[in-house]
Amino acid sequence: STINKTIIISNRLPVKITEENGEYQLSTSEGGLATGLGSVYKEGNNIWIGWPGIEVPDERKPEVIKKLAAHNLIPVFLTAEEINFYYEGFSNEILWPVFHYLVTYAKFDEVYWGFYRSVNEKFRDTLLDNLNTGDTIWVHDYQLLLLPCLIRFEQPDVTIGFFQHIPFPSFEIFRLIPWREQLIEGMLGADLLGFHTFDDARHFLSAASRLSSSNLSDNVLVYKNRQIVVEAFPMGIDSDKFEELTRNEKVAKYVTSFKASLKNLKTILTIDRLDYSKGILQRLQTFELLLEKHPEYIGKLALYMVVVPSRDTVPKYKELKDQIDQVVGNINARFRTINWVPIHYFYRSFSIEFLSAIYSTADICLVTPMRDGMNLVSKEYVASRTNEDGVLILSEMAGASKELNDALIVNPNNIVDTMETIIKAINMPLEEQITRMKSMRAIVRKFNVHRWVKNFMDKLSEVKSKQESLL
Ligand code: UDP
Ligand code: G6P
Repeated sequence: STINKTIIISNRLPVKITEENGEYQLSTSEGGLATGLGSVYKEGNNIWIGWPGIEVPDERKPEVIKKLAAHNLIPVFLTAEEINFYYEGFSNEILWPVFHYLVTYAKFDEVYWGFYRSVNEKFRDTLLDNLNTGDTIWVHDYQLLLLPCLIRFEQPDVTIGFFQHIPFPSFEIFRLIPWREQLIEGMLGADLLGFHTFDDARHFLSAASRLSSSNLSDNVLVYKNRQIVVEAFPMGIDSDKFEELTRNEKVAKYVTSFKASLKNLKTILTIDRLDYSKGILQRLQTFELLLEKHPEYIGKLALYMVVVPSRDTVPKYKELKDQIDQVVGNINARFRTINWVPIHYFYRSFSIEFLSAIYSTADICLVTPMRDGMNLVSKEYVASRTNEDGVLILSEMAGASKELNDALIVNPNNIVDTMETIIKAINMPLEEQITRMKSMRAIVRKFNVHRWVKNFMDKLSEVKSKQESLL
């Protein structure tokens, strides 16, 4: 076809394959990248290339290819070894912890590096098979940092955008990675590099200018005679979708039964993937302190805690799961009464309708990551508050805190202050809730995911035409 398209390419597709009694089923993927972009990639004749989330035996690949093609999705199949060393290993035992400032969690294993390179090449090959002249390529996230350069080598003039969904750490942290130069060089294959916040962009610029032979002025790097632009594009959500969901019949039914089960308890909601970056244990410690120091709240509160299974084959994640189970058990055993339990803990994922119901019902949403690129959960809570009440408590270490100034902002390491903030939220007058929520809702609505895609794409074509005019 001669119609230009955008090729989105990321490690994980917006849908994943799961197996049940030998049958393959499609379900939506978890995580901000998949949920955020999943709403918009279908516009136009775009395609999305990525891993379907499961090891597929050769004889069943045609079936998977066909299932995904119906949604304009193209799979990259990974072997068990590749899943182990590239995905769990290099991506989630090196890049993830280091980029979230948890350097001591990193396992700098040379074998991981070899697989990271060869799997990035595998993604390049699938991309080249699907590339036509005039197409725009949009690479996503830390699993594919080498891909922009690998594509550039084969197709010197092609348009490549790159967006990173997680933080980019300060140079003093980034420099610890043994393969730091190769990673930067890989990223510099792109024409435009986007990050969630201004600080992430600045950290990248500083690392790139120290580790590569590039020249920097403002936010433009000149590298191998090509101008590369680096900018902040804070990702938004599909706010219309979350507003409309609150009027959905199924959601209304969930709301009714949720309210009945909670009686008159003040409800605090938390939703995260299982991840040490989310500060789940510190939050539990804060909640325990609250019950200990303020027994007047015993029997009055419910902590509704959803933990979505994630990467549970990586040792640090498995460990975290066991610790959460234990701490929740201890707190519930210590403070429960005959007819009251403090923590309602779920280790599973939920339908979007159920999520909408709990978002729109909970009095308080507590989002306290130690470090988070953006955090879409906080924006989804705001978008779901069509009554304009509710209180958002948000960590200053989440990218979203740069935009949602009217949240109650906390440093989650300060558990005393966070505890006092929860008490402030419990007692916040309705009028103040509404003032804050209204202003946050306006921001979430205005800077939605459609606007984010448009800003990024407009900038990418501007960068490309400027490059061409310089030739
Ligand atoms: N989410 C989901 N299923 C669930 C619970 C949450 O798909 O059962 C979604 C949630 O709606 C949000 C995403 O997972 O869009 C989490 O994104 P966020 O940016 O908050 O964090 P990430 O997981 O990307 O670190
Ligand atoms: C974060 C990352 C995504 C990733 C998601 C879920 O949002 O930025 O790249 O897809 O977590 O993690 P998983 O390892 O299951 O893909």
